[in-house]
Amino acid sequence: MPGRGGQSLSMVCVDVWILALSVLSVTADATSPEVTGSCDSQGFPGPPGPPGLPGPPGPPGPPGLQGPTGIPGDTESCLPPPKSAFAVKLIDPLPAPSQPIVFKEALHNDQDHFNLTTGVFTCTIPGVYRFGFDIELFQHAVKLGLMKNGTQILEKESKAKDDYRHLSGNVVLQLTLGDRVWLESKLDTMETEKGPIQSMFFGYLLYGHYPG
Ligand SMILES: *[C@@H]1O[C@H](CO)[C@@H](O)[C@H](O)[C@H]1NC(C)=O
Ligand SMILES: *[C@@H]1O[C@H](CO)[C@@H](O)[C@H](O)[C@H]1NC(C)=O
Repeated sequence: MPGRGGQSLSMVCVDVWILALSVLSVTADATSPEVTGSCDSQGFPGPPGPPGLPGPPGPPGPPGLQGPTGIPGDTESCLPPPKSAFAVKLIDPLPAPSQPIVFKEALHNDQDHFNLTTGVFTCTIPGVYRFGFDIELFQHAVKLGLMKNGTQILEKESKAKDDYRHLSGNVVLQLTLGDRVWLESKLDTMETEKGPIQSMFFGYLLYGHYPG
């Protein structure tokens, strides 16, 4: 019985060997043409590769034709805004009352709308203006009137004994062409030089009334 068992085992071994050899030969047959290159026949073409990168941009094209002329713009609103401004100064006692104070020094008077000879501002641009004054006084009494065409618009007064004082006033006025504005002293008796006094008077156009 043991001899029979040994024979059948050896036969199984032979079978496994034959199977293994035949598998090896099949594998060799399948790989040999590609490895050696001895055969002219080729395989199927592979799938297409991914698309390439985009090329560089081309040169710019020629300029286009000139467009038609536009419609004319609104020239009125393009005019530069009118200007009118002055600031004048006086470091002297005020002159006699009821006449325009003549300010000798112009801090600003580019348009010459304030006459330094007469002390009168004349409106050449109709509109709304701001006028103001500031007086520094010492041992002095002052009473001032801001006048428009002979009519008093504003009156201010102050008295300084042994100290300095400021007297100031402001007004917004609508002026028409040719209107005149000035500052004048309102004291009945002319106060002589008792102490230093410094006066400033200014005015400027806030906004104009444009014709049309
Ligand atoms: C100032 O007024 C005087 C007297 O009316 C006049 O002669 C002079 O031309 C005026 N000056 C200006 C800049 O308007
Ligand atoms: C102010 O006076 C000036 C010159 O006298 C004149 O042209 C103007 O019309 C007057 N304005 C008014 C509002 O009376």
